[in-house]
Amino acid sequence: MKFGHFDDKNYEYVITNYNTPLPWINYFGQDGFFSLMSNTCGGYMFYKDAKLRRITRFRYNNVPRDYGGRYYYINDGGTIWNPGFLPVKTKLDSYKCRHGLGYTVFESEKNNLKCELLCFVPLKDLCEINQITLTNESKETKKITLHGVIEWCLWNAVDDQTNFQRNWNIGEVEIDDTTIYHKTEYRERRDHYAFFHTNLKHDGFDSDLDTFIGLYNSWVDPDAVKNAKSFNSKASGWSPIASHMFNIELKPGESKTIIFQTGYVENPEDEKFESMHVINKKRAYELQQKYQTKEQVLKAFEELKNKWVLLLSTLHVESDNEKFDRMVNIWNQYQCMVTFNMSRSASYYESGTGRGMGFRDSCQDLLGFLHLIPEKSRERIKDIASIQFEDGSTYHQYQPLTKRGNADIGGGFNDDPLWLIAAVSQYIKETGDYTILNDPTPFNNKEGSERPLIDHLRASMNYIITHKGPHGLPLIGRADWNDCLNLNCFSKTPGESFQTASNFESGKAESVFIAGMFVLYGKEFATILKNIGEDKESANILNEVNKVEEATVKYGWDGEWFVRAYDAFSNKVGSHECEDGQIFVEPQGFCTMARIGEKQGFGKKALDSVEKILTNDYGVEILHPCYKEYHIELGEVSSYPMGYKENGSVFCHNNPWIVVANTVIGNNERAFDVYRRNCPAYLEEVSEIHKTEPYIYSQTIAGRDAQNYGEAKNSWLTGTASWTMYAASQAILGIKPDYAGLMIDPHLPKEIKHASVRRVFRGVTYNIEINNKATGKYQMLVENKTINGNIIPYEKSDKVINVTVNI
Ligand code: GLC
Ligand code: GLC
Repeated sequence: MKFGHFDDKNYEYVITNYNTPLPWINYFGQDGFFSLMSNTCGGYMFYKDAKLRRITRFRYNNVPRDYGGRYYYINDGGTIWNPGFLPVKTKLDSYKCRHGLGYTVFESEKNNLKCELLCFVPLKDLCEINQITLTNESKETKKITLHGVIEWCLWNAVDDQTNFQRNWNIGEVEIDDTTIYHKTEYRERRDHYAFFHTNLKHDGFDSDLDTFIGLYNSWVDPDAVKNAKSFNSKASGWSPIASHMFNIELKPGESKTIIFQTGYVENPEDEKFESMHVINKKRAYELQQKYQTKEQVLKAFEELKNKWVLLLSTLHVESDNEKFDRMVNIWNQYQCMVTFNMSRSASYYESGTGRGMGFRDSCQDLLGFLHLIPEKSRERIKDIASIQFEDGSTYHQYQPLTKRGNADIGGGFNDDPLWLIAAVSQYIKETGDYTILNDPTPFNNKEGSERPLIDHLRASMNYIITHKGPHGLPLIGRADWNDCLNLNCFSKTPGESFQTASNFESGKAESVFIAGMFVLYGKEFATILKNIGEDKESANILNEVNKVEEATVKYGWDGEWFVRAYDAFSNKVGSHECEDGQIFVEPQGFCTMARIGEKQGFGKKALDSVEKILTNDYGVEILHPCYKEYHIELGEVSSYPMGYKENGSVFCHNNPWIVVANTVIGNNERAFDVYRRNCPAYLEEVSEIHKTEPYIYSQTIAGRDAQNYGEAKNSWLTGTASWTMYAASQAILGIKPDYAGLMIDPHLPKEIKHASVRRVFRGVTYNIEINNKATGKYQMLVENKTINGNIIPYEKSDKVINVTVNI
């Protein structure tokens, strides 16, 4: 069942039924001010850090789930409704929520009163704009009251939900007839405040939650709204809010537009106050002046839309598969940009109060947005590399505000160092710019410890080389990519973190997955070294790669698939010898991508096993059979009920590895089949089962052994976005940045017979026509001239270069 439809021309998903199976959300913002917006107008705003600088409040684990947002209440002669359906839940005569790139528009109607609500964060300013237009489509004059309201968060989102003995005393606001300023803690150590402004003088206001709502009511029936008035309450402690009320009279056919703006302002220490306790509003006024008229709002909105058109023009495909095109061109790239901004911090599943930016997550995210924002990618790489230690190991996470490594979780995740090589090599391939290797980059952010970035890559390699176990395979440490495979943890204590506890540090547990990574990214590093003339070092690295490859062939092969790991007692994990967890997906993907045991046909066998044993209707399950009981020697993986998360769900992040791996062995049909199974656009038709947004990838889809088979969770902030982008563009379409130029190596399924691709690469625009006649042969023409090999030789050019590839 569908709850809306794609509007590809406008780059939108249009939700037409507000009863979506879960909140379907969108994101606004790019440079500091960020918002989440659900299809019922829920969500929240923050500045840079969703934990430490939360602007509006969202109550987690609420009933109903999606409560708290920017709410507009329309009281039309006693009929009270909201453009986004919630909170009042009055049945609407029509409803549309158009989620676009960085904006959302609600178009709703009740009793011949039409409402259009446009919401976005402008490109350059720290604010969210909500422009509401009411139109009377009836034959009578209407007298309406409109209340716009947001609830302030007291900045630190964790304290805000816990420390009430303090919080209920500290709330402070200032009010004038267009603006309510939130200035809690500004008198003391904060230099920032927020405001909720309107472009017209209000007819009343409230800033105290309990007064506005009434202690025994809820957001469904606030006293102020029911009584079509305001109490002009001034918050002092408790929960400060900001509500502006308007009395509006509309003749038949008449419209009225009001612009609401939530803004964030920082003042220099010596300019904080205008007078005793009165905040200096100079910067707020400037920000408010920029959005006083419809024309100003429209201009900012057009700028935002144009920015996206430009950004997405870097890669654009038109093929005979509409679903593939819309994911590659619009939604998959958009999701990659959101993961660039959010990492894993704020979604409807990540509270924004927990983990910071992950080392491995951020490195992998780069694979998805590098082509869009190479400059910012370079900065990101530097931030990430700066939390590495001199021995090559890394902090697992860092906080975006401070960019310091997160000591609570520490390090010891032995896959982390290698992801840095994945990111840097992709950066060089995309940009052709080797100078990044010289960027002075500190270790553990220590001043004076700066070394050229290439030394960080060396340290990464060296860490794995010097941390191997009894079979010559890399030690796993706290966990490898699979956070829940905790082979040195041995936890019996409820609540103990599986990732940080180490009750039995064996020094033995090994990961075949890291072996695959080492071989794949080790070869990559060797190529980089060769390209910069370090031939000897390059040969040494290849020698180390060979050792791990040999160890994997010898001890990492189970007969029909790759073993997953060796536990603390050197027993196999992910082998037919095990009772449960006989096969895991990760090494099948990575070892095949790394071509380990290619001569022996390991990849083909492993991927056949993946298809036979792990593949369900929605993709490839992470392992099989699911663990039925808790295994102390394996850790969190066996803590989840069967079929959920790391215990046997389709953990979407590693499905694209199987896509890429299948293209490596030349199985194009199967590659596309895996791609299709959990592609959101393909799942739109079964939204009632899948539940999460049909335009966005989720982290996990419950597996066959789960009660709710097919139900997805944790949409948006997942490495699935970047890896699928990589798989779709670089493996299936085969448009592959390489050191010497752009490689075109398509692995299209038979059903895609033709694809026209526009790709901007190192400043040159290529128009690439791929004709798929499944001939098994390859021919490339550049400007009608046949070229040997599959790389377009790179040359700077202002002209569009026409390329034809026949396969
Ligand atoms: C989550 C984590 C990621 C990890 C994966 C598998 O997506 O963010 O770092 O690799 O789970 O456990
Ligand atoms: C990853 C996993 C999750 C686990 C968490 C711990 O996000 O997906 O299952 O609980 O890591 O950090």
